Amino acid sequence: MPDSLLNGAYRFSVAPMMDYTDRHFRVLMRQVTRRSLLYTEMVVAQALHHSERRERLIGFDPCEHPLALQVGGDDPQLLAEAARMAAERGYDEINLNVGCPSEKVQKGRFGACLMAEPAHVARCVEAMAAAGPLPVTVKHRIGIDDRDSYGELLAFVDALAAAGCARFSVHARKAWLEGLDPKQNRTIPPLRYELVHALKHDRPQLRIELNGGLQDLQTCQQQLQQVDGVMVGRAAYDHPLRWAAVDQELFNDPSRPQASASSVVRGVIPYAERWCSSGGRLWAIARHLVQVVEGVSGARHWRRDLGQAAGERSAGPEVLERAAEQLEERGL
Ligand SMILES: Cc1cc2nc3c(=O)[nH]c(=O)nc-3n(C[C@H](O)[C@H](O)[C@H](O)COP(=O)(O)O)c2cc1C
Repeated sequence: MPDSLLNGAYRFSVAPMMDYTDRHFRVLMRQVTRRSLLYTEMVVAQALHHSERRERLIGFDPCEHPLALQVGGDDPQLLAEAARMAAERGYDEINLNVGCPSEKVQKGRFGACLMAEPAHVARCVEAMAAAGPLPVTVKHRIGIDDRDSYGELLAFVDALAAAGCARFSVHARKAWLEGLDPKQNRTIPPLRYELVHALKHDRPQLRIELNGGLQDLQTCQQQLQQVDGVMVGRAAYDHPLRWAAVDQELFNDPSRPQASASSVVRGVIPYAERWCSSGGRLWAIARHLVQVVEGVSGARHWRRDLGQAAGERSAGPEVLERAAEQLEERGL
């Protein structure tokens, strides 16, 4: 049952973002919030078929739970195989990307263009749900091109719900498949939260999560009056510590002190030790960690020093020790 597996973690989730929400950033985010749901970057189902790349594509650290694997694809069999693999690997959920408008993804006939084919997406969801025990969820837009009426959105969601979709993560913008690039498609089409609210109102039995443009905890709290979950992308990556009170305030969990910049860096060190001792480069972790210090004097120096030290080929976790000490000395 989805809720018992995820313990309601989808109340707040960090959106899947290619090149950003890799395993290292997710470990960082885990120092900020233990309760929320994290997503991988999108992994193309077809790529998972090839075993030699699998570990790199879907490997993760146990501290990342609860964790959803996001996949892209349009072949029910390959998607079912991905769902089976996700379950074997210990993921908590599998999510299908029906929101990405990039040209490359469109050429593969998946992502946002699948919104025009609800019956086909329903077959994909059905195959994924039948393949294993994981909840199958879908991330999608409110519409594409001129197929953007509320009726079409409702029909899309109804078809997927009947196929076994456990939750809908709705990016509250339509996507223009021609004429706008992915970045423009995340800013130019207006946000229409009212359509997501209407969806929850008209289908109260479905789990509906709102995504797009959420900037702070207070706005998330307000949105949670109307939907079951909120999903934050860019504002989580750019300002991880902005979300330090998520567990306390959105999950009503006072058991942990709020994260600080130094506690995040320190918290990542055991993971960095595991990563570096298995041959990984520290830079892969440090490139995200620079995000935890902002808006204080000396931030740029600290970032630069960390970047330089971590960029050395031989750099190890001791670089993070020093970076954490510098922050602790300043009470950050
Ligand atoms: C750099 C970047 C990469 C993204 N990659 C993905 C992805 O792999 N899968 C996906 O469903 N959405 C992806 N998105 C979209 C986000 O998940 C999210 O829907 C979008 O950024 C809107 O939320 P926000 O305003 O909180 O950032 C990406 C967004 C950004 C900025």
